[in-house]
Amino acid sequence: MRLSYHLIACTILSLTILSSCQSENNKMQTKNEASSDRNDTHSSAQPDKAVSQHLSLDLVVDFESKTMEGSVLHKIENKGSNEIIFDTKGLKISKVEIDTRSEPVDFELAADKKFLGSALTVPIDEETKEVKIFYSTTSESSAVQWLNPIQTTDKIHPFLFTQGQAILTRTWIPCQDSPGIRVTYDAKLQVPEELMAVMSAENPKTKSADGVYNFRMEQAIPPYLIALAIGDLEFKAVGPRTGVYSEPSMLEKSHYEFGDMEKMLVSAEELYGPYLWDQYDVIVLPASFPFGGMENPRLTFATPTILAGDRSLTALIAHELAHSWSGNLVTNATWDDFWLNEGFTVYFERRIMEALYGVPYVKMLTQLGLQDLDGEIEDLGSHSHDTHLKLNLEGRDPDDGMTDIAYEKGALFLMALEEQVGRERFDQFLKKYFNDHKFQTLTTEEFIEYLQTNLIETDKVEIDLNAWIYGPGLPAKKPSVTSDRFSKVESFSANALKDKNWNKSKTKDWTTHEWLHFIRTLDEEIDLKDIQKIQEVFQFNTSGNSEILAAWLEFSINTGHYKEITNELEEFLVSVGRRKFLTPLYKALKNSDDLKLAKDIYTKARPNYHSVSQQTMDALLNE
Ligand code: BES
Ligand code: ZN
Repeated sequence: MRLSYHLIACTILSLTILSSCQSENNKMQTKNEASSDRNDTHSSAQPDKAVSQHLSLDLVVDFESKTMEGSVLHKIENKGSNEIIFDTKGLKISKVEIDTRSEPVDFELAADKKFLGSALTVPIDEETKEVKIFYSTTSESSAVQWLNPIQTTDKIHPFLFTQGQAILTRTWIPCQDSPGIRVTYDAKLQVPEELMAVMSAENPKTKSADGVYNFRMEQAIPPYLIALAIGDLEFKAVGPRTGVYSEPSMLEKSHYEFGDMEKMLVSAEELYGPYLWDQYDVIVLPASFPFGGMENPRLTFATPTILAGDRSLTALIAHELAHSWSGNLVTNATWDDFWLNEGFTVYFERRIMEALYGVPYVKMLTQLGLQDLDGEIEDLGSHSHDTHLKLNLEGRDPDDGMTDIAYEKGALFLMALEEQVGRERFDQFLKKYFNDHKFQTLTTEEFIEYLQTNLIETDKVEIDLNAWIYGPGLPAKKPSVTSDRFSKVESFSANALKDKNWNKSKTKDWTTHEWLHFIRTLDEEIDLKDIQKIQEVFQFNTSGNSEILAAWLEFSINTGHYKEITNELEEFLVSVGRRKFLTPLYKALKNSDDLKLAKDIYTKARPNYHSVSQQTMDALLNE
C-alpha cells in the first residue's frame, strides 16, 4: 500500500501545525525525511514486479566443512515482470530452475554491493509460479556461527545458530530480504544424528532418529525472522504453551529462570489481544550469541548471560515475547522505521513486567532505560540525525543506526501519548492498532496517519509529533519518572562514602537493578581505597550476575584502577560474545589509553565472537 501524495502532504501539513513551536531547521528536516516511501534501500528486491510468498528450504548441514548446501524453492507472485530479484550475500549459487522446466535458466549475479551483497536476477515468464535456487553457504555467510564443541556450554558437541536481523538472512538463504515482504516457509534439514535442529517454526521436542527435521511456519513473516539453531538440545515445558530449549547442563537452570513465562504470555494477551503464534519457547544459546535476545517467532533466541539464578534479568524475555505483537505481527516496513518495532516493544515489555511485578520494579527498569537514553544522546550528539525516531540509514549498514534511541525514545514517546489520554484509552488504541495491522508492515508515516485518525483527532491530543519523531534529542515536554528505590540507593551510597562505612545489611533486599544503579552512580574520581572497600564488601568482581559484573568491570576501567581486575575482564571478554557488554568494555579500555590491552584480549576473544560482534569490535579497535 502506497500513501497518496495528498495524504503525505496532509500528514506533513498537520505535523507542521501541531509543531508550531519547532525551529525552522527541524521543519526542513521533516519535509526531507517524511517520505512515506516503502522502498527499502537495504534490499535489491523489487516486490512490485515479482514477489516471493512462500519458501521451501532443503539443506544438508555439514559441520566438517562448515557449510549448508541444498536449495530454496520460492513460490512467487509475478505481477507482470520478466524477472524476479533476490538478495544474496556470501553465497555460492550453482543453478536456478523455474517451474518444472528441465533446463536450468541463465541467472545473473550482480557485483557485490557494500552491506547489501549481490542481487540475483532470475528471468521468469508470465506463468512462472516457482523459482528453485541451488546454493551453498560459505565462510562469508555472516548470519551463521559455527561453534566447535569447546565454544559451547557443555563442550561435547558442535553447535550452529543463525542471526537474521537486520540484513543477514540473505547470507544463508537467497531471498527477498526486506522487512516489508512477508513469506510463509517450510524446511527440511539434514543434521548430524546426535544433534537436534530447531527453527522459528513448529519445533520438535525430542531428537529424530536419523537427523532429519521438517519444519513449517504457517504465519507469514519477514525474512529477518527466519532462524535456525542446531546442537545437543533438550526441551522442557514451562506451561501449556511455553517451554525452554538448551544444552543439557543449562536446562534446569533455564527452566527455573523462566518459570514465569506462561504468566507473561497470559498478561501480554490480556493487554493487547490474543497470541497468534500458538507456542512460545525460548532457546538458551551458547555465550557467543551477539544479542541479549532475538524475537524469532515461536522461538526466542537468548543469551545465557540472563541466567542470573534469581529471575532478575527476565525483562528480556518479556521484551522478546512482546515482539510477538510489535515487530512480528506488526512489522517496520524498512529499517528506517525500526522504532516501530523496538519502541513499542520496550513500552509493552514494561507493561508486562508491571502486571507481574508491580510499579516500583518497572520504575527501576524505566530509570535505567532513561539513563541509557541520556548516554546515547550524549554519544551521538544532541543534534545528530541518528537521535531522530525516524532514521535515514540509506547507504549505511542498518546495524549502525540501531541505537537506544529507537528503544528508549520510542518508549518514552508512547508514555507521553499515554499520559495525554490515560491508560485505559491508550491500551484500547494499542490493542486496536495491533489488530488492525496484524501480519502487515508499516512505515512511520503510515503509523502517524493512523495515530492522527484514531487518537490525536478523536481525543484532541496535544503532542509535538514533529519533535518526537523527526526532531533531535528529546522534546522539552516529556514524561518524568522517579524511583523511590533508586533514591534509597543514592542516599545509601552517599552516606557510606561519607562515613566510610559500607553496611551490607542495608542492601540485603536489593535486586540487580538497584545494584546497577549503585554502580552507575559511583563517581569515577573515587579513591582507590573506596573501590577496594566496595569490592571487599560486595565482591562484584566475581558476581555471577553478568549485568553487575559488566557494569563493575566498566566502572573499574573508567576509574583507571583496573590492573587488579584484568584477569576477570579477560575471562569475561573471551567467553561472552554479547555485544551490549563488549562494546562499552572495549571502548572504556580504548578511552583509558590502553588500546594494547584491548587488542591483546581481542586477539584471543575474536574467534569466539559471532560476525555481528566481530564487525563492531573490528571497527572500534582499528579506527
Ligand atoms: N530485535 C532485537 C535484537 C536486534 C536488534 C538484532 C537489531 C539485530 C538488530 C531484540 O529484540 C532486542 O532488542 N534485544 C535486546 C534486549 C532487549 C531487552 C532490549 C538485546 O539484545 O540487548
Ligand atoms: Zn527488541
